[in-house]
Amino acid sequence: MDRKVVIFDHPLIQHKLSILRNVETSTKDFRELVNEIAMLMTFEATRDLPTEAVKVQTPCGIADCKQMAGRKMAFVPILRAGLGLVDGCLRLVPSARVGHIGLYRDETTLKPVEYYCKLPKDIEERDVFVVDPMLATGGSAIDAISQIKLRNPRSIKFLCLIAAPEGLKALEDAHPDVDIYCAGLDDHLNENGYIVPGLGDAGDRIFGTK
Ligand code: PRP
Ligand code: URA
Repeated sequence: MDRKVVIFDHPLIQHKLSILRNVETSTKDFRELVNEIAMLMTFEATRDLPTEAVKVQTPCGIADCKQMAGRKMAFVPILRAGLGLVDGCLRLVPSARVGHIGLYRDETTLKPVEYYCKLPKDIEERDVFVVDPMLATGGSAIDAISQIKLRNPRSIKFLCLIAAPEGLKALEDAHPDVDIYCAGLDDHLNENGYIVPGLGDAGDRIFGTK
């Protein structure tokens, strides 16, 4: 099957993203919007999960219905900013497990530095959704996905709010089997590796640390 790269053009996502980008948006609103967009993106990214036919007794008869075919899922945020998306994802799939990968970008080299990895024990049986608001150089996402692949999950998808063309290309090249979902695709990276126009430092804006 061909790999998918989805850049969302849904009006609700685009509207919320425009408020998120605004430098005047408060930490509280920023956090809420990140979760709302994550929920909408999860809705689309789970579109191809298999279903099975079931018959349901209604008060008026028997309905031919579909239910999810027992696939297990895991959301894996890249710490720390990825944490901001998890509640939104779980609102749609409350039974999913959550793993964590700790990486930060060295400010000089822009290379990811790993500091934590804890994934569900049965990850081999799970469809994994790696979540992070920003795909800039792509280093963090590429590294996180490489670590997860060592544990042989059923499948991996990557969800981010904003991607730079440089990071998208790097991730596509490094992991051609991973579907990628972005709420927005921006113009370029600046000399500090920030996405332009982007939304600034996602972690600082989610947690109010700057
Ligand atoms: C941000 C962001 C990504 C990474 C993207 O995290 O959340 O993980 O940068 O950059 P890249 O594509 O060039 O690797 P950051 O390193 O700022 O850490 P934080 O989440 O702890 O703030
Ligand atoms: N990390 C962020 O938080 N923002 C960017 O623009 C790039 C990396």
